[in-house]
Amino acid sequence: MSLPPESDLQRWLDIATEAALAAGAVLQHHWGNLTNIAEKGRPGDLVTEADREAEAAVMAVLNRHLPADHGILAEESGVQGNPDAALLWAIDPLDGTTNYTHQYPFCSVSIGLLAEGVPILGVVYNPMLQELFRAATGLGATLNRRPIHVSTTAQLAQSLLVTGFAYDRRTTPDNNYAEFCHLTHLTQGVRRGGSAAIDLAYVACGRLDGYWERGLSPWDIAAGIALVREAGGRVTAYDGTPIDIQTGRLLATNGPIHQAMSQTLGQIKPLVVPPLI
Ligand code: IPD
Ligand code: CA
Ligand code: CA
Repeated sequence: MSLPPESDLQRWLDIATEAALAAGAVLQHHWGNLTNIAEKGRPGDLVTEADREAEAAVMAVLNRHLPADHGILAEESGVQGNPDAALLWAIDPLDGTTNYTHQYPFCSVSIGLLAEGVPILGVVYNPMLQELFRAATGLGATLNRRPIHVSTTAQLAQSLLVTGFAYDRRTTPDNNYAEFCHLTHLTQGVRRGGSAAIDLAYVACGRLDGYWERGLSPWDIAAGIALVREAGGRVTAYDGTPIDIQTGRLLATNGPIHQAMSQTLGQIKPLVVPPLI
């Protein structure tokens, strides 16, 4: 993968920021005032007018500024342009829809850029807490324009982790429940944030030491992966091998606890919970 020139990355970072702030304004507007909450198929997988309008706001900014050879993959509207484009934007207009519908202020706009499948730029914006995370390869990672770095925690026993549970959790033994129990015992705690993009951004800024999850889509994690790496952290598959973003499964840490987490995830046997619904 060849990295685009720094001047392009800087310009695209500013365009992504403009788009994230525009979508954030839409999310603020609909906060506590939703008229249309629907399920997309799987139980609990919600979509609202805020998701759709926020996505339209992102697309309007990107389409106004970006070169025609860039592709876009957006959660609610799918692919625009060439899905095999060397430079592909991955957009989640509202990551944390469940939180949002309950007015739990942990949700974000996530805008990432993949170069031949590798995340090289990311903007994650939580409009409720007004926290703007930005990064691009070689340009550093920031929170509200101040540099951020991953934590230095070196032991699992001193770590605070985060994870999530995909919408198919009721129907697959690969449901992350055993991993959650096991790592809860080995650490100071495991949070369930409800926005994969913010989970990654929190690893990038050192609030959390590690994150793992399965069943994710490229738009959930493209921006966050760029943030963690640029803040000095590591992102791989569970077993420590290079990540393929299409697998939807990743381990992201500050670095020092990476091997211990990877080893632990490799040892866990699935915990099969009888279906409740
Ligand atoms: C979800 C969130 C959540 C994760 C789910 C995602 P959505 O995205 O990132 O934290 O556990 O797997 O699908 O549906 O709120 O955009
Ligand atoms: Ca999402
Ligand atoms: Ca979403």
